Amino acid sequence: MTNKILELKDVRVNYGNIQALKGVNLNVAEGEIVSLIGANGAGKSTLLKSIVGLESLTNGNITFNGSSIRDAGKNRKLNLPTDKIIASGISLVPEGRGVFPEMTVLENLEMGAYLLRDKAEKKRRIEEKYEMFGILRDRRKQLAGSLSGGEQQMLAIARALMSSPKLLLLDEPALGLAPLIIQNIFATISKISREEKVTIFLVEQNAKMALSISDKGYVMETGNIILEDLSSNLLENPKVKAAYLGE
Ligand SMILES: Nc1ncnc2c1ncn2[C@@H]1O[C@H](COP(=O)(O)OP(=O)(O)OP(=O)(O)O)[C@@H](O)[C@H]1O
Ligand SMILES: [Mg+2]
Repeated sequence: MTNKILELKDVRVNYGNIQALKGVNLNVAEGEIVSLIGANGAGKSTLLKSIVGLESLTNGNITFNGSSIRDAGKNRKLNLPTDKIIASGISLVPEGRGVFPEMTVLENLEMGAYLLRDKAEKKRRIEEKYEMFGILRDRRKQLAGSLSGGEQQMLAIARALMSSPKLLLLDEPALGLAPLIIQNIFATISKISREEKVTIFLVEQNAKMALSISDKGYVMETGNIILEDLSSNLLENPKVKAAYLGE
């Protein structure tokens, strides 16, 4: 049996009267790339934020490696704060990348491992990121705000990897980038999955790209999961083709 590294059960999140998530069930197995596709406002970012504790659940629960990390119940011990969730091995690359524009590339990378005290280990991880993203080594003293969009996305991913996560959450890494750069980003995501043994949960509006690199996919519409299948099947699904692949 495959090990479920992430599992959401009947997760609901409300913003006042708006039900952004209406009872989401999903799971991600260790080593997989899983994508979640859906239109603007479907609830994709809300879902990722709820996993890392940036939104509270009004119902349901989330487990990571079999342990509860978020729960709508009253037991506060089951609701880990964001820093504890990151320390337990989940890292989020937020929508819009969230690099610190006034800090250099190197300082951004250091921030990604702010929980780490061991200086030698921090240095080793930075070197490892420079090996993976050569452009970041070249630009290490440059302010992050002056990088191109694609370079900022690379930096955001590298920074998220600085905490050596077991699970990497990516919120629309292709947003606003040119087609060639998007291909580059997705190739990098595949490589991270293969070489770093990091499980990846990817949220995207670029359904074709996301499904083409993932094992399994979920389709979300206004707070509900409406489809779940192997990505190869979703790419052939007439409904998905019409609504998300522009075919
Ligand atoms: N802080 C908030 N307060 C009130 N409503 C919110 C808040 N954040 C999100 N929403 C609403 O919740 C719904 C889901 O938003 P969410 O950002 O999760 O969608 P999304 O699928 O990530 O969309 P996009 O593809 O545009 O990023 C939307 O209707 C949105 O307006
Ligand atoms: Mg979003």
